[in-house]
Amino acid sequence: MSIELEGATFGASRAAAIVVGLVLLAVVVQALRIARSFGKPPETPIEHAIHRTAQRFEKAAAKKGDYYFARGKLSGDPATAAIAALGPLGSVLDLGCGRGQLAVLLLEAGLATKVRGVDWDAEKVAVGARASEGQEATFEAGDVREISGESVDTVLLVDVLHYFTRDVQDALLLRAASHVAPGGRLVLREADRGRGPRSWMTRLQEGVGTWAKVNVGERVLFRDVRRELVPLLEGIGFTCEVAPCWGLTPFSNVLLVAKRGP
Ligand SMILES: C[S@@+](CC[C@H](N)C(=O)[O-])C[C@H]1O[C@@H](n2cnc3c(N)ncnc32)[C@H](O)[C@@H]1O
Repeated sequence: MSIELEGATFGASRAAAIVVGLVLLAVVVQALRIARSFGKPPETPIEHAIHRTAQRFEKAAAKKGDYYFARGKLSGDPATAAIAALGPLGSVLDLGCGRGQLAVLLLEAGLATKVRGVDWDAEKVAVGARASEGQEATFEAGDVREISGESVDTVLLVDVLHYFTRDVQDALLLRAASHVAPGGRLVLREADRGRGPRSWMTRLQEGVGTWAKVNVGERVLFRDVRRELVPLLEGIGFTCEVAPCWGLTPFSNVLLVAKRGP
């Protein structure tokens, strides 16, 4: 039996062995990088902000795992540095914010003036709400597909879009874009389709995460960011840039920054 993935055909067992081996290697390398970052004293301003954010989560977390997750994600995910580098971000709406560690960090680093985080996982947003005590932040449990409220300077959609069907993704993207104030930006981090082994690895990792209920989503559907999502945003007057956001990981994540005209 053979299987076809992203246009290439392989023997099923060989393909499975390669992909599982690479995913395991990626997980080990990533875990080692994150473990190393835990022991390293902060040096740069963003590392200091991550350190302070981690302290907030250590205090706020009902489970130790929430603290380790927040700290590990901020130190190990290339999206942290990529999004921080876009600052200043002004007022921020973080759709599908999870525990809200990125939003709390942006405030802690002085890169956002206020944040609103929305996620349908009430336990996660409760952690974010506690961690952000004293900050200009609100965290609420809600479905991002029904988001409403005032426009902001930056809307974040980080690793969320792929949980929905094609039509719902398009509708969510347009709804998110409608919350961007003139001159503001929609920042989307997603895994890209059509990037060969990187795309397979990401698909496998997300499939396992959803199956294990690490993420509460309904499905995993990655899109071709340049061919499918960019035209949608350009069609409503946004100017888009897409750049790799996978760092040293083997995944296919990219960052789409869509700017709304003044
Ligand atoms: C992979 S996590 C990313 C979390 C966060 N953006 C981050 O970077 O840490 C995806 C998040 O989307 C949330 N999510 C999925 N579908 C949602 C929906 N319909 N409404 C609100 N949140 C949703 C999940 O609960 C989960 O916290």
